[in-house]
Amino acid sequence: MYQIAKKETLAPNLIFMSFRAPGIAAAAKPGQFVIIRVDELGERVPMGLAGWDEADGTVDIVFYVLGTSTMKLASLKEGDSILNLAGPLGRPTELERNGSVIVACGCFGIGPSMPLIRELKAIGNRVIVVVEARGSGFIFWEDRLRELSDELHIVLGDGSCGVKAWADDLVADLLKAGRKVDRVYVHGCPFMMKEVSEATRPFGVKTIVSLTPIMVDGTGMCGACRVEVAGKTKFACVDGPDFDGHEVNWEVLTLRMRQLMAEEDRSHALWERENWHKLIASPEELARMMGEGGGLPEHRGGACWT
Ligand code: FES
Repeated sequence: MYQIAKKETLAPNLIFMSFRAPGIAAAAKPGQFVIIRVDELGERVPMGLAGWDEADGTVDIVFYVLGTSTMKLASLKEGDSILNLAGPLGRPTELERNGSVIVACGCFGIGPSMPLIRELKAIGNRVIVVVEARGSGFIFWEDRLRELSDELHIVLGDGSCGVKAWADDLVADLLKAGRKVDRVYVHGCPFMMKEVSEATRPFGVKTIVSLTPIMVDGTGMCGACRVEVAGKTKFACVDGPDFDGHEVNWEVLTLRMRQLMAEEDRSHALWERENWHKLIASPEELARMMGEGGGLPEHRGGACWT
């Protein structure tokens, strides 16, 4: 069992959790992930590591409440425990001193970007961070991001910051303006990673995306996480999660990630009908969780496929 040491609602439907897992905290590296199983009936859900503290023996995640498993997880409180937390899994991000790099992130992807930004800076890169959200209420850790990065850009899809734009728009603008960018890293939903990859493609800037599709064992045995990269089948859990965004077959990835949506919707509706009271154990937290613009997940005017 893995105890929840800390829980915080960061924005509507976006939750931070820290778990007691000293073994994982001692071995974690930027870019790696854990697979979470809330209880014996739970599915296994991969989530990028948003941080770890070896001295405290804790590891952090940020997740978006989207289906049954994340809703079950969101219904737990500090002091509660989950059944399994396996990790650290996947290859760590290959970190090099490239010069000037962009880290583009949004939503739950802000979480795993934090250790990446910290490490890219530590080895001497100039780090430009581009954060996207659909509105100002969905931005979190702005102060930390500003402190960690050399340059921070926030873009809001609802136009409330003056310009209606997403991360790919801003990345394209920086490249069109002739800014020196040696590499781009992207963390967020697959749609956002695809769009940023398309924005950088004409400029030939290598773009690393982090793929955590449907997974089961996380060790390369089951094949559930297969993705097509450069025309070859790869397993995201052991060959990734990092891949060159210009080589990913996004259409195949989208179809595979959507294949169980009908079952997921049914499961979500059933769980919510029987367990909604667990989410109002703390009315204040529920209000924070739902917030303005909370409720049904949306992203860029469509379904958020995470
Ligand atoms: Fe089974 Fe990757 S999750 S092979």
